Order: sequence, then structure tokens, then C-alpha cells
Amino acid sequence: MNKLAQKKYAPSTERNREPILNVLTGCLPDHGTILEIASGSGQHAAYFISHLPNHYWLPSDPDPENRNSISAWWWDIQLNNILPPLDINTRDDVWPVENISLPLPVAAMVCINMIHISPWPSTIGLMKGAARILPPGGILYLYGPYKTGGQHTAPGNELFDINLRSRNPEWGLRDVEAVADIAGVHGLNLVKTVNMPANNLSVIFEKE
Ligand SMILES: C[S@@+](CC[C@H](N)C(=O)[O-])C[C@H]1O[C@@H](n2cnc3c(N)ncnc32)[C@H](O)[C@@H]1O
Repeated sequence: MNKLAQKKYAPSTERNREPILNVLTGCLPDHGTILEIASGSGQHAAYFISHLPNHYWLPSDPDPENRNSISAWWWDIQLNNILPPLDINTRDDVWPVENISLPLPVAAMVCINMIHISPWPSTIGLMKGAARILPPGGILYLYGPYKTGGQHTAPGNELFDINLRSRNPEWGLRDVEAVADIAGVHGLNLVKTVNMPANNLSVIFEKE
């Protein structure tokens, strides 16, 4: 099979991967499996795991074409601490990761650029899943553009929000406070937010 033919390229991943990795290395547990939700092309997975030799990376995406792309990136890097991608849709009540054995238990979850490009129930499902899967002290790391206090933080974010809502009225930038509230309902406490380049935020939660 020509794995290159299945690879997708998301240019934004090459811009944001290093700043994200810098935050991740400061907040991830020392070891364990990191479950990535909404891995998209798989470029983040391939880059991050090359820099996290003490962890396993478990990518996932509900889109079969994305899972093919993730597999193609995996094929390219040939590291044995990246696991085959799972078909996880956060809106499902049970995720496939709950029924398999892993080399190390899930210690953290990472979800980059999904919350604003999916309906709100996807975020609720993400929090429910994190509550089921993460151990006490486990980390949920989110990245993306957010509103704060109901306000956009930059004109570019407001335009992006309008664009998203025109593509799907259920999409759009979320209030970071609303995301923290729904996380709290599911026992995930906001640890901190970190301002990131291009008016994005890292949002880090810890399971009670
Ligand atoms: C903008 S892409 C981001 C992909 C990647 N994380 C990145 O930053 O390049 C949004 C991703 O969210 C995934 N997605 C949308 N709804 C989802 C859901 N309910 N559960 C899991 N993934 C979802 C899509 O399949 C897509 O891969």
C-alpha cells in the first residue's frame, strides 16, 4: 500500500505544534498513555510522540479518511510508542478505548481544535469521556480559539467565528468559562489557561 497517498497535511499543525509541545511537556504526567481526541491528519501525533519517548500516544478520530492519514504518518515515523488510531466520537456513550488493554493506562487526554468545529454536545461528550477514562490527577489538555467573558479576544477570532457559524450554525467559538463549567460538572477542575500564538489558548484541566 502506498501510505504517502493517504497522508493529509494541515498547515496549521506546523505552526502550532512547537508552542503546544512546550505547554504539554510542562503539564503531562511523567509517563502513561496519552489519548488524543480528534487527531485529524495525524501530524500532531507524529510530532509530539517523537519528543515524548516515555509515553505512548493513542490517536483517534471518527473520520475514516483521517484515521487513514494518521496511519500513514505513523507508518512514516515507525515509532513503537504510537498506537494505531481508534474510531472515537466523543458523542458516543462508550469509546473503544474503554474496551482494550493498553501498554500503559491513559494518564492524559489531548484535544486540539475540535471544540469550536463541532456541535456543543461533542464538548459535553468529551468531558463525560474524560471523567470515565482519566485517573484521579489525570490531565485534559485543550487547545484552540476561545471567547472570554462572552467577548472575542481578537478581530480575527470574531471573523473566524462568523465563518464557522456560516458553515454550520452549531459550530463556533465557545466561552472558555462555559467549557470550564461543563468540565467542572464532570469532576475536571481548571488548572490554568496559557495564551498561545495567533490568539489561541491552551486550557488545562485536572481530574479530581
Ligand atoms: C479542525 S480538525 C482538527 C484536527 C487536529 N486536531 C488538528 O489540530 O489539526 C477537527 C477534528 O475534529 C474531529 N471531530 C469532530 N467532531 C468530533 C467528535 N464528536 N468526536 C471526535 N472528533 C470529532 C474531526 O473529525 C476533525 O478531525
